[in-house]
Amino acid sequence: MSLPERMRCRISVKRSGTAGRDGMSTFVVECDPHDNLLEVLTRLQREHDPTLTFRCSCLIGKCNVCLMKVNGEMVYACKKRIEEEMVVEAADNHPVLRDLVVAFGERKDRGE
Ligand code: FES
Repeated sequence: MSLPERMRCRISVKRSGTAGRDGMSTFVVECDPHDNLLEVLTRLQREHDPTLTFRCSCLIGKCNVCLMKVNGEMVYACKKRIEEEMVVEAADNHPVLRDLVVAFGERKDRGE
């Protein structure tokens, strides 16, 4: 099965901690089907919204800092292949510092 050359993707990112940007930000972008989510988030930050905040480091699935929730599933953004519809949120169980950045050293209190 061959992949299409380009695909139109709708990426909705749950935002918090940036004045005037709390809630969902939705971006519609052309992507290469081989792109991973981290590549697309980086492009969105550079070309559409420099306030979009996330972490990355190793880019190969080893450091864990790009862990986030996509369509309800915890994934590493650097390993997650792009899909046509993605709802992207901060990782569960840790306090959100801003957008997709959480305090990994801290746990959320139960009931939060
Ligand atoms: S950037 Fe290190 S695991 Fe994704």
